Amino acid sequence: MNDQQGNYIYTDPQIVGFNSVEEQNAIYNEVLSFIDIQGKSILDIGCGRGDIINTLHQYLQGEIQFSYTGIEMNPLMCDIANELYVSQDNINFINSEFDSIDDSFLGSSDIVLHILTTRIPYQNIDIYDKFRSDVELSKKLTNSDGIIIFLIQNDTYNHDDGTTKYEISKIVDILKHEKFAIDNAALVGFSKIIIFN
Ligand SMILES: C[S@@+](CC[C@H](N)C(=O)[O-])C[C@H]1O[C@@H](n2cnc3c(N)ncnc32)[C@H](O)[C@@H]1O
Repeated sequence: MNDQQGNYIYTDPQIVGFNSVEEQNAIYNEVLSFIDIQGKSILDIGCGRGDIINTLHQYLQGEIQFSYTGIEMNPLMCDIANELYVSQDNINFINSEFDSIDDSFLGSSDIVLHILTTRIPYQNIDIYDKFRSDVELSKKLTNSDGIIIFLIQNDTYNHDDGTTKYEISKIVDILKHEKFAIDNAALVGFSKIIIFN
């Protein structure tokens, strides 16, 4: 890998699904504005390079403590995340498929994040069935006061990378059917689905 390719993998927002760094930061800030992070444990599923950590620090201005574990199935992304952030005490990354997450995480997290992770067709499984099973597993990972946040690319988002856009009404129907308490706040081009335990 030459330097230019290396930099691209470390910094390009398109690699992790956003049109620009500004858009990515605005989205992270919007997600974080909804939750209280003070002293919380955050489990970030499909964390990519761990880009949200910079925004977490800016958002909290270094004053608030939290712990963060990123789960990432792509070993290259996980290596980059480790290289960038793992020296920080409260942060670690695990190279794993979400479905294979260790049982020690059951009931352990205050906040489970899924930021643009469920939009890629997955082993020929229907995307809505996959979403349903991701919600079920996420529920098992949260503690009794925990919340789950999905940031989902909806069909108005202009990022044509051939991946699936969700019909948000179908997602909402699934959650209502499963009797989850939800708050569905639409962002431009995204939908932010917050699920309360
Ligand atoms: C579009 S990127 C978003 C990355 C990150 N959430 C961010 O905000 O930059 C999606 C990431 O989710 C990871 N991913 C997708 N499905 C996953 C799964 N089942 N288990 C673990 N990681 C997964 C991909 O490898 C990819 O790095």
